[in-house]
Amino acid sequence: MTIQSVNNDVIAKAAEILKSGGCVAIPTETVYGLAGDATNADAVAKIFDIKGRPSFNPLISHFADVKHVMEYVDLTTHAKALASAFWPGPLTMIAKRRRTCVISDKTCAGLDTIAVRVPAHPTAQKIIRAAGVPLAAPSANKSGEISPTSAIHVAHSLGDKAPLIIADGVSSVGLESTVVDMSGDKPVILRPGAITADQISDVLGCQIGVDLGSHDTPKSPGQLLKHYAPNKPIRLKAFDLKDNEALLAFGSTKFMPVSKTHQNHLLNLSEIGDLYEAAGNLFDYMRRLDQTDATSIAVMDIPKIGIGLAINDRLQRAAEG
Ligand code: TXA
Ligand code: MG
Repeated sequence: MTIQSVNNDVIAKAAEILKSGGCVAIPTETVYGLAGDATNADAVAKIFDIKGRPSFNPLISHFADVKHVMEYVDLTTHAKALASAFWPGPLTMIAKRRRTCVISDKTCAGLDTIAVRVPAHPTAQKIIRAAGVPLAAPSANKSGEISPTSAIHVAHSLGDKAPLIIADGVSSVGLESTVVDMSGDKPVILRPGAITADQISDVLGCQIGVDLGSHDTPKSPGQLLKHYAPNKPIRLKAFDLKDNEALLAFGSTKFMPVSKTHQNHLLNLSEIGDLYEAAGNLFDYMRRLDQTDATSIAVMDIPKIGIGLAINDRLQRAAEG
């Protein structure tokens, strides 16, 4: 496993590896991704293998821009409107797959739809352009674990299974992209993220649905799975602390009974109660508290507004895991 800081030579090397069917961990503005050529079934198989991901869970294909997307996928008028409002950026759209689309069936787990995204991160952009192909890239963590927001997180999660990891700072958004299904009659959010339902309905001028998955009828195969799970149990909406519990705080801790020992195991997602700052810190702080000798992690209440909905979604799944 090697971590290399980004520069032009490293980007050229990454492109060579990707073109020859290998995998590279790359930074994006949401989380780090484990990338491979989305049109190459062997490359995609390697991604599933390295992550230990069940083959029924499809991957997102990443493109350089909307023109690049449309070489492979037809976008509806609504999808094009979202593309011009939010791409490049943290939005993934599910679209109908063209029968002639050369993206591997494995990437889409055999579905007749495909997930497409244009990341904003300049290094991700450069790597996609240099490789010249769409890149399948799930989050660069073992299946079920917390998504990585830095190169070090990738190394911790994938260990020796990680191929080249390209380091370029901390992912600025810190949560995976919003996934919106544009393949049906009405747009439906399948995974909340930094782009909110309100922002999307403002652009489309219509109400949009939110379906975060029931266990019986998952709209998105990934909704079935245990996710974002630290090793320690998580307790949500905590307003007190048990002995030996770590605290993931949000906003003022004035009313939390925090003892001296608790102080060593306390991280505050955002002291000023800024939800974007909290999203950026969430996965890193969950990892850090997981590494303490506390027995469990208590999490303070976080408002379910804007990006707070996505934060609560990840915490809920972590608590269930
Ligand atoms: O921010 C992100 O989206 C990151 C970065 C690397 O771009 N990627 C990411 O990928 O989070 P992943 O594989 O961890 O999550 C993709 C999600 C899964 O829940 C998967 O089930 C869903 O998208 N998905 C992919 N294709 C789909 C499809 N055709 N229909 C429904 N859901 C799909
Ligand atoms: Mg993931």
